[in-house]
Amino acid sequence: MKNISIAGSTGSIGRQALEVVKDDSENFKVTAIGAKSNTDLLKAQAEIFLPDYVCLFDETLKENIEGHLPKKCKLVCGQEAIDAVSTLGDLVLNAIVGFAGLSVTLTALKSNKLLALANKESLVAGGDVVERIKIKSSGKIVPVDSEHSAIFQCLNSERASSVDKLILTGSGGPFREILDIDLANITLNDALKHPTWVMGPKITIDSSTLMNKALEIIEAKYLFDISVNRIDVVIHKQSIVHSMVTFKDGATIAQMANPTMCLPIAYALNYPERSLNAYGKIDFSFPSELTFEPPNREIFKSLDFAYEAGSVGKNLPTVVNAANEVAVSAFLNEEIPWLTIFDTVRYCMDNCEISELVSLSDVMEVDENTRKVATDFIKARR
Ligand SMILES: NC(=O)c1ccc[n+]([C@@H]2O[C@H](COP(=O)([O-])OP(=O)(O)OC[C@H]3O[C@@H](n4cnc5c(N)ncnc54)[C@H](OP(=O)(O)O)[C@@H]3O)[C@@H](O)[C@H]2O)c1
Repeated sequence: MKNISIAGSTGSIGRQALEVVKDDSENFKVTAIGAKSNTDLLKAQAEIFLPDYVCLFDETLKENIEGHLPKKCKLVCGQEAIDAVSTLGDLVLNAIVGFAGLSVTLTALKSNKLLALANKESLVAGGDVVERIKIKSSGKIVPVDSEHSAIFQCLNSERASSVDKLILTGSGGPFREILDIDLANITLNDALKHPTWVMGPKITIDSSTLMNKALEIIEAKYLFDISVNRIDVVIHKQSIVHSMVTFKDGATIAQMANPTMCLPIAYALNYPERSLNAYGKIDFSFPSELTFEPPNREIFKSLDFAYEAGSVGKNLPTVVNAANEVAVSAFLNEEIPWLTIFDTVRYCMDNCEISELVSLSDVMEVDENTRKVATDFIKARR
């Protein structure tokens, strides 16, 4: 029996993780669930999974849930909730969206946990600091992002010295066939229509700008200790090949499945074993086609931002992440056009001073300053 804590249990990844747990209830027990604001769903999840701890990150919503939980569940709120969900159980799944996930990543590693990591922003924004903590920790990160899970599986028992390149695949998002699209007039609805994945709103917008792939380049740099110039991106519209590794002898190994996040989630929860339940299994008896093409880097400038930020390192990835979070949030509120997301990130990159990140407070300071610069930039453009 593995005891699992889920930070972000009310989100797209969190909900799918609970489905995986339900499918395998003989092997998994939910020790803690945690979320920010969706108290109705948190209550409903508590009734079904009976965790020891229910962790509510936004303390101001406490009265929505206090007194309404099953007797066995202890309610914790605010910082205590973040600490509890990051330190309880054998495995912590970090399924929080955005920079807020960094503290869960750091606390789980400091507590020597097996960390199933969906929250890519913590590695992008705080990669150097996470690295420092990871070196001292007996904990381990198992990626949940489907691309990084694929690479993790392709690298199984291979030597790092044999690897030539990592190849991240991407569906290309809703605008991959962009020839007849007026980029200046893309609406929120257009950008939220992802062709192959159903995900939370922030990552769906990141997929439309290919910023999701950009963040994944930096995430892969830290997860697999490889320079960004050895990480390629290819557009693969079927979303069947989840990523690949090319070795120095010329061989390329790919991991394939029909698109479902349940498979990488189940892989991480069962690690180092594999799940006995199948998710996304391909039926090869039907004719099918796999296509690969280079991304359009002229339009999707995010990829260049990632290669630049990933090779300069230091605070630049933190700046990219914070500027993007502010811009995506403004786009989701229909305050800026889609193209302004790229302009905001470029502006913040061009107007920051490069500095080393030694501690969490350095990361927090860069994040906070960049949010101010990005917010002012957006206000001036309205
Ligand atoms: N969805 C996917 O298929 C997918 C695939 C690969 C990687 N990922 C990564 O997984 C992470 C989660 O994505 P998602 O799509 O599941 O997001 P989502 O559906 O928006 O869910 C986000 C979760 O984080 C919680 N949350 C939001 N803001 C928070 C804050 N400031 N502090 C603490 N908790 C907060 C939410 O709680 P409330 O809802 O209760 O407010 C919710 O439980 C992201 O980093 C994303 O890039 C997602």
